[in-house]
Amino acid sequence: MSLRKKLIAGNWKMNKTAADGVALVADIVAAAGKQNDVEVVVCPPFTGLESAAAKLEGSTVKLGAQNMHPEASGAYTGEISAGMLRALFVSHVILGHSERRSYFHESDAFINQKVLAALKAQLKPILCVGETLAERESGSTLKVVQTQLEAGLEGVSKDLATNVVIAYEPVWAIGTGKVASTEQAQEVHAFIRSLLVKLFGDAIAQKVRILYGGSMKPANAPELLAQKDIDGGLIGGASLEARSFVELVTAAIAIK
Ligand code: 13P
Repeated sequence: MSLRKKLIAGNWKMNKTAADGVALVADIVAAAGKQNDVEVVVCPPFTGLESAAAKLEGSTVKLGAQNMHPEASGAYTGEISAGMLRALFVSHVILGHSERRSYFHESDAFINQKVLAALKAQLKPILCVGETLAERESGSTLKVVQTQLEAGLEGVSKDLATNVVIAYEPVWAIGTGKVASTEQAQEVHAFIRSLLVKLFGDAIAQKVRILYGGSMKPANAPELLAQKDIDGGLIGGASLEARSFVELVTAAIAIK
């Protein structure tokens, strides 16, 4: 068995009111809220965190946010800090998602500040990396992933490295129905693992989870999750319905 517990995280993006989120969480908890074989995290929009937390209480399902600001407090209109998330029982936070990189111009340096601030506040960052279609076609996938990973993890200590989760999300596979082949995904995941070995040493690198994200669905998940270095999924579209999300959890439990 792997040293790494599989992790299935649902990124709801800008979907679901607080009330819709509670209904979804209730169904997820009913179907998968007692098992401990796989770690399950749901990431509603900020407005749904508090009510989702109340519904998750007493279950094994954890709560994540989709973003945060690196500063602890201050004049940052519209932003949310790590401490505010912690106060809502959030344990994970997605950082550096490609949608934030492209639509909100987030740089690797800014994402790195968030990673460090999240770790300091005892939140587990889910650091997203991945190439665009143009970058893949020009043969620069590994270079792009390396730059994003090394810059995003700059200054992370060995002690805290196992609290980081990496998500490899090829931009061309997000929301497009075009999933990376198992070979394409495993190649990049193994490459990320080798970079983690260089940064933190082998023992720590073997404990860091690397998730795949990009059109992961119940139909393609078993093959992806069976790959040596694919430790779970960061799920967009298929996390918006309990049935498909729970099927993904079940697929991960079957492989463990
Ligand atoms: P889809 O599963 O909708 O492709 O989204 C993936 C993603 O961006 C998760 O963060």
